[in-house]
Amino acid sequence: MTQPLTIALSKGRILDDTLPLLAEAGIHPAEDIKKSRKLIFDTNHDHIKLVVIRATDVPTYVEYGAADLGVAGKDVLMEYGSDNLCEPLDLNIATCRLMTAAIKDAEMPQGRLKVATKFVNVAKRYFAEQGRQVDIIKLYGGMELAPIMGLADMIVDIVDTGNTLKANGLEARDLIAPISSRLVAGRAAMKVKHAQIQPIIEQMAAAIERQR
Ligand code: ATP
Ligand code: PRP
Ligand code: MG
Repeated sequence: MTQPLTIALSKGRILDDTLPLLAEAGIHPAEDIKKSRKLIFDTNHDHIKLVVIRATDVPTYVEYGAADLGVAGKDVLMEYGSDNLCEPLDLNIATCRLMTAAIKDAEMPQGRLKVATKFVNVAKRYFAEQGRQVDIIKLYGGMELAPIMGLADMIVDIVDTGNTLKANGLEARDLIAPISSRLVAGRAAMKVKHAQIQPIIEQMAAAIERQR
């Protein structure tokens, strides 16, 4: 018997790039996800369902086994930091960089650095590795505003084109990690549902390879 399989998708900017990859694996939502207020969707396969949730919630659903597979940014996965998740595939979508940034040409204070970010765990780890004493200030978005308002000396945030930094008089400083979205699976699901998961991984991988 085919076991049920649930895939957790990040709503927002990743969704547009995820759906064509799922389609390449033969998985099509039964209705237009973007036109619906529903959070759970049937597909053309009786046993496969899609759930569409906040990007930051994807690892939680997958770790606890409420979803078997998920799609999430490496930034989100680094911040979540669980040993119970594996990343069987780099989807090579939503590529960007996780960086430190500060006001253009601004000198950093000698003592403790104030760092605003939504990536609190990543930032703590990064500055600890640098041997730099920091006070981390948790924000939920629009990090670029923090240095302008004197809330922080530095930010840790996603940079793609650099337009947001530039428009706010900031500049990128150091690269923390290159980012792309990943297919993520729970270690338990990878074992128990291997027969169903493996062909999906292989078909998505082939599609990614064709796009390169
Ligand atoms: P939320 O809006 O729920 O707080 P979010 O800001 O992480 O979450 P999105 O903006 O949709 O949600 O970003 C989803 C993922 O896309 C991020 O985790 C990151 O990997 C990637 N990403 C974010 N910003 C950019 C960007 N400007 N260019 C390319 N990829 C990006
Ligand atoms: C993301 C990110 C940066 C911006 C970077 O923000 O947090 O602010 O995109 O892209 P750029 O280098 O091409 O300008 P988003 O638009 O997702 O807003 P958010 O803060 O609400 O997540
Ligand atoms: Mg965002």
